Amino acid sequence: MKKIMFAVISDIHSNLEALTTVLEDIEKRGIKEIYCLGDVVGYGPNPRECLDLVIERTKWCVLGNHDYAVFYEPTNFNYSAEQASFWTRAVLEAEQQKQPRDRRWEFLGQLPMQRSLEATLGVNHAKINFVHASPRRPVNEYIFPDDVYTNPVKVRVLFERVEHICFVGHTHLPGVFLDEPDFYLPDELGDVYPIVEHEKAIINIGSVGQPRDKDNRASYVYVDDNEVNFVRLEYDYETTAKKIREIEELDNFNADRLRDGR
Ligand SMILES: [Fe+2]
Repeated sequence: MKKIMFAVISDIHSNLEALTTVLEDIEKRGIKEIYCLGDVVGYGPNPRECLDLVIERTKWCVLGNHDYAVFYEPTNFNYSAEQASFWTRAVLEAEQQKQPRDRRWEFLGQLPMQRSLEATLGVNHAKINFVHASPRRPVNEYIFPDDVYTNPVKVRVLFERVEHICFVGHTHLPGVFLDEPDFYLPDELGDVYPIVEHEKAIINIGSVGQPRDKDNRASYVYVDDNEVNFVRLEYDYETTAKKIREIEELDNFNADRLRDGR
């Protein structure tokens, strides 16, 4: 049986140093197939470079709310996120070369809201959905770990829309939701969640370019046989932060939070 191996990345947020670190790690592991859960842009200083790498290196990408903000319009954004999306749009528009400019816009304009995959992982048949945010509102809904305690009904209703496995990003908080409902941090799972046929799971893969779980390392997952492996990687966030501080339209808070992972 063919061994299935793929990596899933999300929430890059124009952070080139984090993205290149993650892509190098994926390559070192010999993983050829990469999927992206969106928010390639927003907050960070390198939208062009990050878009180009995602276009070249991933098999597909779904639409994130920050991608939507740049291509269409920001919805429910705070001031600094909105400013960052307008700045990103201006940078993409200012590209002098037609071919890369058109390629980036076409990429942003054709991002689907979800993708799915059926595969045999080890001995388990898996039906996997991929969205940026949540199975009922794929672009904008937040599923927080606390929802398990403060809003269990919400989590149960979300699970009604999950056939088996759903990969998400958006909150920048990696971990696994089960339909009890329950939430497990990667640490509590030894950084591995085994996909099995009888268990539904919503798996948050964390953020490449703007981690917010008080761990400043870039986050992604790879799936090998039926195991979802959570990976964290140190990267040169000082360089990214310095670039953000040098761009007037980008809020310095988005530089500071890279160091703290918040
Ligand atoms: Fe995001």
